[in-house]
Amino acid sequence: MMFFKIIKIFPAELAHFLTIKILKLGIIKFFFKPFTNNEILKQFIWNLEFNNPLGLAAGFDKNGEVISEILELGFSYTEVGTVTLKPQNGNKKPRIFRLNKDQAIINHLGFNNHGSEKVLKRIKKRYEMKYFLHGIIGLNIGKNLNTDDITGDYIKCIKSLGPYCDYIVINISSPNTPGLRELQNRGKLENLIINIKNEKKLDNQIRNKPLLIKISPDINEEQKRDIALTSLAQGIDGIIIGNTTSLRSDFLIDKNKNKEGGLSGKPLFQSSTNLLKEMYNLTGGKIVLIGVGGIFSGRDVYEKIKAGASLVQMYTGLIYEGPVIIEKINKELVYFLKADGYNNISEAIGTDA
Ligand SMILES: Cc1cc2nc3c(=O)[nH]c(=O)nc-3n(C[C@H](O)[C@H](O)[C@H](O)COP(=O)(O)O)c2cc1C
Repeated sequence: MMFFKIIKIFPAELAHFLTIKILKLGIIKFFFKPFTNNEILKQFIWNLEFNNPLGLAAGFDKNGEVISEILELGFSYTEVGTVTLKPQNGNKKPRIFRLNKDQAIINHLGFNNHGSEKVLKRIKKRYEMKYFLHGIIGLNIGKNLNTDDITGDYIKCIKSLGPYCDYIVINISSPNTPGLRELQNRGKLENLIINIKNEKKLDNQIRNKPLLIKISPDINEEQKRDIALTSLAQGIDGIIIGNTTSLRSDFLIDKNKNKEGGLSGKPLFQSSTNLLKEMYNLTGGKIVLIGVGGIFSGRDVYEKIKAGASLVQMYTGLIYEGPVIIEKINKELVYFLKADGYNNISEAIGTDA
């Protein structure tokens, strides 16, 4: 697809804006024959049928504008958001930087999004057609920059948007919202989850929606243990591992490497996969893990699966390679699974952990 090559001549945020506009036209599907139906990749998780393990990570379709169009590219699921209760503009531009030489991105967006009210209209419309359209919709929720009631805001978002998605993610790990990552500390995390779960229990429409948390790759040993224990004790349904990193490895070579924000893409692969493995062991394989960070190939996905992921997501790889990467990854993955004698992807989960 020429479009996805040409678009890179524009500054990163403008390129993203134009890509959403083009996707909205709904014509991309005519150029694609996504590879979706292969029994070896199919899994039932939380009573939902995932055609393949690959989903679009949060941040691409922040406002739920192109849900169907993303799913038509061959992703089995997409995560809308991060959505906050009220709309907000985010940080000053420029705030997305490509690190071409490292196949990475640094973003300092700060949860720019249309807010829960506008997103509600879009996801409600899409969710109501779910019996006719394939694909699973996750919803990623964050806090506004200036809020006095963090827990209350998460709860309000979950109550209004939660009925119209298949799973809910509490984002406690973006590096671009001051204070957000403190929610990963034991006391705060426990409080937040208990309060959300109590409200969720009382509401028929969201009672059974899987509740996930998305964590940072930059957490320390104590936080890892606390997150694992709290998730097990409070019955969290899944952990997404993980968000972008604030750390910069010495191996980065691009001139943009010291820009402020969270780093994603290839340099994140190893650290996020190591954390995945650790969290798989700490949770005894009892919680569904979603592996994210630096996926560019079927081999990368296979490593995440063997490290303990049941599902995976990508963002930066899609920006660098374009949507052809989705079919390529799934085909490669089938090849690796068959070569190792597996009948279904679920048999390979955690085999390296
Ligand atoms: C431009 C950009 C915006 C992002 N926005 C969000 C966001 O709003 N919420 C979130 O949970 N993660 C966000 N992320 C993080 C991704 O969902 C993902 O966790 C991270 O980029 C690592 O995956 P990757 O290496 O495949 O990109 C964003 C990433 C990028 C590059």
